[in-house]
Amino acid sequence: RPPNSQTEESCVLKRADCRAKGGAPGFKVAILGAAGGIGQPLAMLMKMNPLVSVLHLYDVVNTPGVTADIGHMDTGAVVRGFLGQPQLENALTGMDLVIIPAGVPRKPGMTRDDLFNINAGIVRTLCQGIAKCCPNAIVNLISNPVNSTVPIAAEVFKKAGTYDPKRLLGVTMLDVVRANTFVAEVLGLHPKEVDVPVVGGHAGVTILPLLSQVKPPSSFTPEETEYLTKRIQDGGTEVVQVIFFSSFSFLGAHWLNYVKQCPCYWQAKAGAGSATLSMAYAAVKFADACLRGLRGDAGVVECAFVASEVTELPFFATKVRLGRRGAEEVYQLGPLNEYERVGLERAKKELAESIQKGVSFIRK
Ligand code: NAI
Repeated sequence: RPPNSQTEESCVLKRADCRAKGGAPGFKVAILGAAGGIGQPLAMLMKMNPLVSVLHLYDVVNTPGVTADIGHMDTGAVVRGFLGQPQLENALTGMDLVIIPAGVPRKPGMTRDDLFNINAGIVRTLCQGIAKCCPNAIVNLISNPVNSTVPIAAEVFKKAGTYDPKRLLGVTMLDVVRANTFVAEVLGLHPKEVDVPVVGGHAGVTILPLLSQVKPPSSFTPEETEYLTKRIQDGGTEVVQVIFFSSFSFLGAHWLNYVKQCPCYWQAKAGAGSATLSMAYAAVKFADACLRGLRGDAGVVECAFVASEVTELPFFATKVRLGRRGAEEVYQLGPLNEYERVGLERAKKELAESIQKGVSFIRK
């Protein structure tokens, strides 16, 4: 049976009708980069989300197989696959939410900024498609470096005359997920009981966990603060490349640094990529929040990298309230302690450069 056949279409209509009778809205979601390391588990988890009625999977490779695989899951959403640039517009038409994990991931020794040259062009092309085919969709941008790709997307939408800052969200949820996990470990709590605001951006020192605002209210020693902040900031690198610190910790800091340079430097994913499974989990958590906002649920608040007036920078990650129009309210930072104030200044310096790099890529 050919994909997108009449049979399938009538099946979608029947299902949509059925949902309307039950009063349950179903949203149309596209994943761009759906055959990748993040894209595949993300597609699987979105297929399981009851808020999704139609799921479009787009990539430049392998979407027919991934679509067949995901499509066999006996959950409500209808799945359609789209392969290659000529099918991008069909993939995007009518979408309520577009999630973008397309692009190359980091390899050992790379920073997120090293990805700029390849991913900037990919994000530009995909956003041009969004501007044309679903200008009112909420966009969740995952492709790195997020600190630059969000400004790139904004510039593309501005050029096309479709820019709505509330609808463009850089996904920093993985930093929050990691922060909740690591802080819960230190506090001896279940991660679900912990809420750590993570502000700034999504790369190295721009990732700024606000440990003074952790819920439930908690205090940390300077050593714990330093350990947690660094671990949250370097969480991605821990996946891309990891050394068996525990095995070598008896050597002390000097020899540990030496071991890091040696061939016994272990690579968690052996150069095969960066975080994919925890990222898919985080992306789905964030997308689900966006869909609940679209549905009109009250009090949906998550951290995201958005257009912002919280600092002097045009984009910044803070908590935002998600609603029918996207990030309807951007929250202020709240009171910071001295350690966080110093971190904020460092984060802003790097962020300013990354944002400018993204803007110049389109304007030049
Ligand atoms: P991957 O290489 O496994 O998958 C990327 C997919 O994008 C591939 O299937 C590829 O065919 C596809 N792709 C490439 N060019 C495309 C185009 N023009 N149109 C559509 N699809 C295209 O990479 P992975 O691990 O899934 O990572 C994807 C991106 O997510 C990377 O940029 C990575 O750095 C970023 N990332 C972001 C995180 C965040 O917290 N925001 C966390 C982890 C990764």
